[in-house]
Amino acid sequence: MMTVYFKGFPQSDRNEDLKMVNVDELEEKVKQVMPEAAYYYIASGAENEWTWRNNTTAFNHFQIVPRALGNIDHPSTATNFMGLDLQTPVMISPIACHGIAHQDAEVATALGAKAAGALFTSSTYANRSVEDIAAAAGDSPRFFQLYLSKDWKFNEMILKAVKAAGYKGILLTVDALVSGYREANLRTNFTYPVPLDFFTRYLGGAGEGQSVAQMYASSAQKIGPADILKIKDIAGLPVFVKGVMSAEDAYLALGSGADGIVVTNHGGREVDTAPATIDMLPEVAQAVAGRVPIIFDSGVRRGSHVFKALALGADLVGIGRPYLYGLALGGPKGVASVIRQLNTELEIVMQLTGCKTIADIRRADIRHLPYTADNLPSNTDPSVRKAYPITQENQMQAVTTDCDSGASAH
Ligand code: FNR
Ligand code: LAC
Repeated sequence: MMTVYFKGFPQSDRNEDLKMVNVDELEEKVKQVMPEAAYYYIASGAENEWTWRNNTTAFNHFQIVPRALGNIDHPSTATNFMGLDLQTPVMISPIACHGIAHQDAEVATALGAKAAGALFTSSTYANRSVEDIAAAAGDSPRFFQLYLSKDWKFNEMILKAVKAAGYKGILLTVDALVSGYREANLRTNFTYPVPLDFFTRYLGGAGEGQSVAQMYASSAQKIGPADILKIKDIAGLPVFVKGVMSAEDAYLALGSGADGIVVTNHGGREVDTAPATIDMLPEVAQAVAGRVPIIFDSGVRRGSHVFKALALGADLVGIGRPYLYGLALGGPKGVASVIRQLNTELEIVMQLTGCKTIADIRRADIRHLPYTADNLPSNTDPSVRKAYPITQENQMQAVTTDCDSGASAH
């Protein structure tokens, strides 16, 4: 792997398919290619990181009832979201500063999402411009995540650029008005090592070297319902409210004209001991009652997690950290590999529950059975999952088939 350096910060320039048994294992592998401070900025949460961990283990609060006799085969993960034809319900959630992982940053991620037929979302705090991303990704579907600035001239500049660059929607992030208390960033004195496009474009200067707290300080610390309509008017695009974790906020967002909801707790990076997002999805879905589309994210690491979120009311399921690890390890092809891994697992669950299409999953049988605490900790908790080490000794030798051995064909 070549390591190219941006002003001394090493960046991957890989572009290769990734072999993996699951997406979670990339979190360990990526340590080999990423400076520790950058790795901990990504692989960390707020305070004691209870929510960050619980986002994933909480998927075991819901059980999938297998269905036989479904008389289906070749399930399809294709779906249509707000008129956008996608090959998968897995989408790329917005993450700042992809240059932390790869020299081509969000352009590489967008190409990976395009290859996998997934919706891509770029962050306000991206390294690459929306024009660069559009030039690379062409007409592949993309949304823009907005950190509302205190300065409406800045907001107007961004929203007009986003609209002109062919983006199809806005995710207005409302759950990160200030940074959660993230000890990893404090311990490593983390600052963004690669310039953030809209900052350099609007504020001038190098743009790198900003801390997360500084970056948030330049954003609006209060966002109200009236801002949603103002953003819609300027952008002329549908606006999803990203960071809804209760029925109350869902009603507020809908009443303020939101065109969609993103149920998320920011991957456990904001309020620690917030409930796992999957535990709040049923309440929000009930409040929304099908009036607008729902995007879900936080803690998704399995195809069965995607399945459960879809069954519990989500229309798209976002991933964060796993694709950034894929970007560092494999560039655009690495991002596509992560999405395809989740699709492979999702297709298996669909086959075993009689779901031929993504729409069928909405009627899947999901139970919330009262398992007692003496039940073993979830096997998706990295601290308890068996490792199944791959060694020279434990590799099954391929059995030669008859035709290989020269025996007559049957
Ligand atoms: C994020 N997230 C985020 N969200 C957002 O609205 N704008 C942003 O710029 C960022 N930046 C960001 C950076 C990093 C390093 C992470 C890990 C996350 C939150 C992101 O969109 C998403 O909600 C979570 O990442 C989903 O959780 P998982 O899949 O990472 O567990
Ligand atoms: C974060 C911000 C950028 O979570 O959303 O790091």
